[in-house]
Amino acid sequence: MSDLAKSATILVIDDDAEIRYSLSRVLSSRGYQVVEAPSGEQGVALVKKGPPPDLVLLDVRMSGIGGIEALQLIRAANPRQLVILMTAFGTAQTAIEAMKYGAFDYIMKPFDPQKVLALTEAALKTRADLHAVSDYKPTINADDYREGIVGSSSVMQDVFKTIGQVTASDVTVMITGESGTGKELVARSIWKHSHRAGKPFIAVNCAAIPDNLIESELFGHEKGSFTGATGQRLGKFELCDGGTIFLDEIGDMALATQTKILRVLQAGEIQRVGGTETIKVDVRVIAATNKDLEEMVKAKTFREDLYYRLNVVRIKMPPLRDRTDDIPQIVDFCLQNLFKQKKARVSKVSPEAMSALTRHPWPGNVRELENVIYRSAVIAQGDALLVKDLPAEIRSAMAGISEGNPAASDGSMGARADHANGATTAPARLEVPVPPPPAGATLNLDEALDFVYQALSSEERLLQRIEHEMILRTVKAEGNDVAKAAKRLGFTKAALQKLLKTK
Ligand SMILES: Nc1ncnc2c1ncn2[C@@H]1O[C@H](COP(=O)(O)OP(=O)(O)OP(=O)(O)O)[C@@H](O)[C@H]1O
Ligand SMILES: [Mg+2]
Repeated sequence: MSDLAKSATILVIDDDAEIRYSLSRVLSSRGYQVVEAPSGEQGVALVKKGPPPDLVLLDVRMSGIGGIEALQLIRAANPRQLVILMTAFGTAQTAIEAMKYGAFDYIMKPFDPQKVLALTEAALKTRADLHAVSDYKPTINADDYREGIVGSSSVMQDVFKTIGQVTASDVTVMITGESGTGKELVARSIWKHSHRAGKPFIAVNCAAIPDNLIESELFGHEKGSFTGATGQRLGKFELCDGGTIFLDEIGDMALATQTKILRVLQAGEIQRVGGTETIKVDVRVIAATNKDLEEMVKAKTFREDLYYRLNVVRIKMPPLRDRTDDIPQIVDFCLQNLFKQKKARVSKVSPEAMSALTRHPWPGNVRELENVIYRSAVIAQGDALLVKDLPAEIRSAMAGISEGNPAASDGSMGARADHANGATTAPARLEVPVPPPPAGATLNLDEALDFVYQALSSEERLLQRIEHEMILRTVKAEGNDVAKAAKRLGFTKAALQKLLKTK
C-alpha cells in the first residue's frame, strides 16, 4: 500500500451504527483514518467544513436526506470529492443515479470486506493518478490546427506539402490509405485551399450507393427514365458545378459507371440518365480508395485508362501505427475539441494511459482513436483520462507491461496493487490483500486453484485474466518459442501470435 493510501482519511456516512463500526474496523485495519457521520446532513456538513476527506463511503437509504441527495450536495460543494455509495438495493435506478451524480462506484450490502478494501484502494489510486497529472502539458493547442489535420511525423509533413502543391491547379488527385486514415479530411483540405473553395464540395460514397442508382446519383435523370423517376433530378456533378467532387471508395464503382466518369474527366461533360442533352460541367475530381487499384487493373475490374486519369497525383495516407509519434497530438486535439464542444470535461491524460494509447496498433486508424478518446473521456471521473477509463482491448496492451515490471513488486500483493492500473476494471492487477500461502507449503492443484480463485475474487473478467496469465507464463517457460507455447496452450501458432500482439 502506498503512503498516500495509508494516511488517507475516509468519511463513512451511514445512519446504522453497526455498519459504521464494522466499516471503521475493516478500514482502520489497513491504516486508513476513519471519520464517521451518523446522517447525510452531518456528513455533508463535514465535507463542506473541510479539510475534505480523501474518500466518502455513503449509504443510500438513510433517515433524513438520502444518499443520492447527499451525493449531489457533496459534489456541488467539492466537484472533485470521491464518493462510493453503499446500498442494500441494487436497483437500476440507484446505479444510474449514483453514476449520473458522479459517484466513483457503488457497492452492495452486505459487504464483503475485501471488496470494500479493493474498491477503496481503487478509488484512492484514481485520486492519486488524477493528482499526478495535475501539471499535464498538452502537446498541441487545437486552435492552431484549424485544418483539422494533426501530425508532425515526416510522412504527414509530406502529405501537407503535397496538399499545398496540388491546391493551385485542378489536377486530379487520388488518395489511398486504410480506413480512417484521413482521406476525406485531406480531400476537403485540398478543396478549401483551392480557388474552388467558394463553390461546393460534394462527397459521394460509391460503395454505399447501389449500382443501379449510382449513375442517376452522379449524373441525374430525366422524368420517366426508369420506374420511380417521377421527375427530373440533377446529379451530383451538376450540383457541384465549379466545385470539387470527392469520389470516395472509387474501387467499388461498377465498370459501366467508370466509363462515364472517364468521359467527365476527358470531355468535362455529362448526360443525365434517360436524357440526350450533353451538359458541360466544370468539376474537379478527387478520388479515394482503400483497395489496391493496381491489382484491380490487372484483374480487369478497374479500367486502366480511368486509373491513369485519376492517379495524376497520388497521396498515400500512412496508417496510424506507422506514425505513433503523432498519437499524443491527436489525443490532445480530440480532447480539446470535446472540451470546447462541452461533450467531456477531460483535458489531461495520465502517462500510463498515453503509453497504452501509443502502443495500440489502431487497425481503424485515426477514426478508431477518435472514438476511443470520446468513449473514454465521457466515462472519465475527473479531469484526466486514466488507464481505467480506456476500453479493455487497449488496457490489455498495458497489462503485460505493468505485470512484468519488477519495480511493481516488493513481495506483497498489496504493494503490487499500488502499481497496477485502474483497480476496478483493468485486467492486470492483484489488488485484493489475500494472505500469502504458508511459506514452504506445497499446494496441490486444487488448493492452488482455490488460492488463485480467492486472490482474484474481485476480478470482473476472470477467464480473460487467467488466460492472459497462463499465456505469459507459458511463453516464458518455453523460452519465447511461440510455436511450442501455442502447442502447450492448445492454440494455433497464428492465434497465439495474434493474442500476443494485443497483449
Ligand atoms: N491527421 C488527423 N488529425 C486529426 N483528425 C484526423 C486525422 N486524420 C483523420 N482524422 C479524423 O479521423 C476521422 C476519419 O477521417 P476520414 O473520414 O477522413 O478518414 P477516411 O480515410 O476517409 O476513412 P474511410 O476510409 O473509413 O472513409 C475523421 O473524424 C477525421 O476528422
Ligand atoms: Mg472516407
